[in-house]
Amino acid sequence: MDARLRETLKGLDIRAEIERLRKERNAVILAHYYQTPELQDMADFVGDSLELSRKAAETDADVIAFCGVRFMAEVAKILSPQKTVILPDMDAGCSLEDSCPPDEFAAFRAAHPDHLSLTYINCSAAVKAHSDIIVTSSSAEKIINSLPRDQKILFAPDKHLGAWLARKTGRDMLLWDGTCIVHEAFSETELLKLKAQYPDAPVAAHPECPAHILDHADMIGSTSAILKFALESPSDLIIVATEPHIIHQMEKKAPQKTFIGAPGADGKCSCNMCPYMALNTVEKLYLSLRDLKPELHVPEELRVRALLPLNRMLAIASGAATDLTPAQTMPPVTGD
Ligand code: 13P
Ligand code: SF4
Repeated sequence: MDARLRETLKGLDIRAEIERLRKERNAVILAHYYQTPELQDMADFVGDSLELSRKAAETDADVIAFCGVRFMAEVAKILSPQKTVILPDMDAGCSLEDSCPPDEFAAFRAAHPDHLSLTYINCSAAVKAHSDIIVTSSSAEKIINSLPRDQKILFAPDKHLGAWLARKTGRDMLLWDGTCIVHEAFSETELLKLKAQYPDAPVAAHPECPAHILDHADMIGSTSAILKFALESPSDLIIVATEPHIIHQMEKKAPQKTFIGAPGADGKCSCNMCPYMALNTVEKLYLSLRDLKPELHVPEELRVRALLPLNRMLAIASGAATDLTPAQTMPPVTGD
């Protein structure tokens, strides 16, 4: 924290101020599981990407204070354009979003006009606008299984999630070459050492992990699915191969159990903490609620185009009927 900010915040009870502003602004605070325990504990709702999207679409608050990364807050704005959406730190990006520039993605799509574009929610609004259906790690499998067997699919931007989904669903998908720097940092050697030390402990892993980590997992799923597994497993020691801040919810809900974060290369490094999520702090949350900025803005024409594939995901994930049509008859993809 810089000296000026420290001076501004001096003597303030930040948590009480956040409470006051939350009421005054009619704000809802949404947080992803990868946020710090302090932010998770201040939130009205903590969840995975799909659950947070649903909450953003449903809320009757005037302000959504999004403790997560930028693409997540952008989704909230796309779904709730009439609301003020703020993100404590606008630099909270995502390596998957960075790996998929919209113009390159548009060219990739244009080169495969017979493929349906399933795109992981971890991408920019511009990439969403070029996509047919958005997926999250908790909705992807159901969405793929809802498509005709002969429908060709391209999947972006996470190649590890894409490869895992291809294996799970038996579908041959064309994969974009993007990765999450956090889930790539787990070490197979160190994980095997940990498993040897605790042979009865199941490993729960996020599908953004590379195959050499997933191959050792007893359970693979979204952050919410990992949390559910950890709580319901008869084992009282669980190895968790995803961003370790999720362990906060596990320890709150099952304090009698032990949860061990899967290790990085030196066996204990914090390289598997998401550096983007870490940019949000309680102090920045307070300032964003006080000043109503940084605020998310999505140009209306782009928002409307990005909304269509997002709504398809929400409809299929909830089991509602959709207007899903093959790629060839999707609305034409236009430039930005
Ligand atoms: P979930 O949808 O499982 O919460 O994943 C979001 C994410 O960014 C994982 O790195
Ligand atoms: Fe992006 Fe990875 Fe961070 Fe998730 S953990 S927000 S995929 S960089």
